Parts: sequence; C-alpha cells; structure tokens
Amino acid sequence: MTNKIDPCTLVLFGASGNLARVKLYPGLFRLDSLGRLPADLKIVGVGRQVVDLEAWRADIKSMLDAKFKKGYDQAVFERFIARNFYHANPPTDPDAFSKLKATLSDESVFPQNLAYFLSVRPVDFAPVVESLANVGLTQEDKYWRRVVIEKPFGTDLPSAKELQAAITKHLKESQIYRIDHYLGKSALQNILLQRFTNTVLEPIWNNQYIDHVQITNTEMLGVGDRTQFYDSTGALRDMLQSHILQTLALTAMEQPKDLSPEGVRDAKIKLLEEIRPIPVSELEKHAFRAQYAAGEINGEKVPGYLEELGNNDSVVETYAALKLFIDNPRWKGVPFYIRTAKRLHEADTRISIRFKKAPLQINDQDQNWLIIGIQPRECIKLEVQSKIPGLDVQTRTIQLDAANRWDSDDSVDAYEALLLNLMQGDNSNYLHISEAEAQWRLVDPVVKAWAEDKKPVHQYPAGSRDPEASKVIFEAEDQFWRYSIELGGDK
Ligand code: BG6
Repeated sequence: MTNKIDPCTLVLFGASGNLARVKLYPGLFRLDSLGRLPADLKIVGVGRQVVDLEAWRADIKSMLDAKFKKGYDQAVFERFIARNFYHANPPTDPDAFSKLKATLSDESVFPQNLAYFLSVRPVDFAPVVESLANVGLTQEDKYWRRVVIEKPFGTDLPSAKELQAAITKHLKESQIYRIDHYLGKSALQNILLQRFTNTVLEPIWNNQYIDHVQITNTEMLGVGDRTQFYDSTGALRDMLQSHILQTLALTAMEQPKDLSPEGVRDAKIKLLEEIRPIPVSELEKHAFRAQYAAGEINGEKVPGYLEELGNNDSVVETYAALKLFIDNPRWKGVPFYIRTAKRLHEADTRISIRFKKAPLQINDQDQNWLIIGIQPRECIKLEVQSKIPGLDVQTRTIQLDAANRWDSDDSVDAYEALLLNLMQGDNSNYLHISEAEAQWRLVDPVVKAWAEDKKPVHQYPAGSRDPEASKVIFEAEDQFWRYSIELGGDK
C-alpha cells in the first residue's frame, strides 16, 4: 500500500543536532533515492546558529558523506541538496518565528502543507509549539500542519499531561505525531501482521497454551557520553516505558477492527490499559534493577556506570526487569517479563514465548519456545521436540528457523519509515496520548519507589548475563531468563 503524499515543506528544528545529522537528513536522502519524496518537497533546517545557504548545504553533504561511506548517486544528491534551506532561529531574537513565517510564506518556493519535526530539548517542545501558533503557523485551513514530538513525551504522568495541555491549546490530536522510533521498525510492524495473517498462530496465542512471555532488549553498549541524560532517566524510563511496552502491546493486543491508524491504536490502548498496576507494596517480587560495574565487553575492559558518571551515590538503574499481568480473558495468569539492560553479554531484542508442558512427557523434555527476533536478526523460530533417530525412545529439541528478512530486502531505517508516514498523514506508527499516559501510569510508581530507595543498587559486571538476583521476579520455580535466539538459549 502506498499513500499519496501532498506537496509539503518539512521544517526540522534542531537541524544540526545529532538526530538530524545521523538519522533525519540521511533518512530523507534515502527516501529521495528510492523515489519516495514528492517532487516539490522542500526541507528547511532550523537552528540557533546563523549559517548561509551554501555553508548549510555543504554541512548536509558532510552528514551524507559520514553516513554513506561507499558513496551515493550524484544526480540524486543534486536533486536532494536543491530541496534544502536553512533558517536561523537565535533564542535571543524575539521576532525569530515571525521571520520563519515570512520565509515560509514564499509559496513559489515552499509548499504550504507544513510538517515540523521538533528534534529539540524536551523542555522546548511546548514553547516551540506556542511560538509557531502565535504567528499562525499551526493553523490548518486550506493546508495541513503537523508537529512531530520526539521522545520522551514527558518524564512522568503529570509532566506528560502538562505537555499535552500546553500543546493542545494550539493543536488537534490529529496534528500531533509523538515518536517512539521502535514503531518505525519493520520487525515491530511485522508482529501484528504475523500474528493475524497466519491461521496457526492465533489459536495458541493465549493462556491455555502459553506459560509466559519474555520481551527482552539488551545492549552491549554502555551509556557513553549520555551520562547526564541517562542519570536523570534510567533504563526503566529510557527503554521499558516506551519501546518495550509498545512491543508488548503489539504482542498481546486483540485483533484490531481494521488496519486503519485508529483501529491499530485503539487495540493497543485497550491492551495497555488492561495491564495490572504494579503493586508497590510487593515491589521486589515484580521489579528488579541493577547497575553495570566494570567488566569486559568483546575482550576489552570497560568502566562501570558509577565510574563513568563520577558519582558513587547514584541509584539509577542500567538494568530493569518487570513482571506484568494483563487483566483480560486471553492473558489471565500469564506473566509477561520485560527487561532491558546496557552492557550485557549480548545485544539482542526479541520476544520469547514459552508454551506449557506437553501432555506427553518422554524424558522431561524442554517446553516449546516460539521466538520472534527483532534485532539484530529478524526471524521467527519455533523449538519443538523430535525423536532422536535410533533404537531408543528419546526426544531432543530442534529448531524451525525462518528469516523474516531476506538479504535481497530493502533495509529501511525506522526514521525513514516514520518520516514517510508523517508526510502521508498516517499516524498509526506514532503514539496516541492515551498510550503515552497509560505507559507512564504503569511505570511511575516504580520510578518513584526506586528513586526513594537509596540502598546501594545491585551490580553486575559489564559483559555478564542477568544478575542472579533478578530471578526473584519469576512466578514459578521452573522459569528462567531466555538468552540467545539460538538453540540452547534456554540453558
Ligand atoms: C533510545 C534510547 O530511545 O533507544 C537509547 O534512548 C537506546 O538508550 C536506543 O540505546 C535503542 O534503539 P535501537 O534502535 O538501537 O534499538
């Protein structure tokens, strides 16, 4: 399905920031190479510095050179670079937004459908929207106006509501595009399709057959140069509150009434609202946190989190695991374990589903696992029991393994897909406010309880597996963390 794109102008706030350099400009360039940008699309970079057009276009070239090391098509480059303009918005200039309006009002250059991408500090989201509105740049009459708000949408439920109140003074919900870049990943979009376009999966996708579900995101990377941001955020808010809960919603939701943006979002919202609140009085049975200590990654010694931060008092987690239950008939009694970590032994994002014990037990065999690999490998694997050929009656686990991505497939970055959706006016892969709120409602009590608990946080050596103590959240004695997607990853 390809949706038509109206002629439009994309206005990128924070145009010389890291996201724009690494994802947005290269992403737009790739879309141009694929012939997916409308002929008259224009891109206006907005930044604090005064830069002339020639220097700005040279800077964009340097972004592309850095991203596409093997080179790129010169004709596409010429076409792409001619789409680009720059507007300086120095924070000290009270007329900056009127000047932006004056620039954009030249209809001979800029199509009047306007999409603003706010790749700015979260504290600036509301002020930028307000300033755009004050000069009439958010008003929709003949043309559409859309605003992309980067993650995070608030830092807890009250601040998300405050931000929502501030921006909805000027924007309708249909104009707001809240990003969770995981929703732009093809592997995530595939969950919904794979679940509901296959007759064999849906009948077993419930508490009658499923013992528990694990949704895992682990990284080998540490916090790098983001220590300040990370220490005010932590793994729970950085990853679980957003990307992992969205993955869970897609894994567990009911079949949407249709694939329209409303259909998909309604089904996700319903699911997120059915997740049982985590009981703070029994937090240790439902939530576990830890911090990485010094250790080894790929044979190299790396420092611990507190050392990188230069502050031994921080209780901010780099590992977070939660046990969740979903209060609906499909999932009654099925624990969902979601976890994320920096500096673990493997970098992997996957959904691992363990099925209940089979009625026939030959040699106390393993239970079936169905694994959906999200990254780095996009695949679906099913582990089943099979007779070991020979004279004895014995079984072993074999794996049916299929790639969801073939080598010949286009590899599209999440931001490319989301930018295209934005221009198409398709917000199904963006968050609705009810989703953002339900996610905060769920994690806020844990964030608060953890912040107040100043006992030293559990440490795990960088490059290790999950801390042993994390197993405290398992509901049953025979449950354990599923590791790699390979056969034997359950050992
Ligand atoms: C970001 C988090 O939202 O997602 C980062 O802030 C994390 O801490 C990143 O590393 C992971 O994204 P991806 O696409 O590399 O899995």
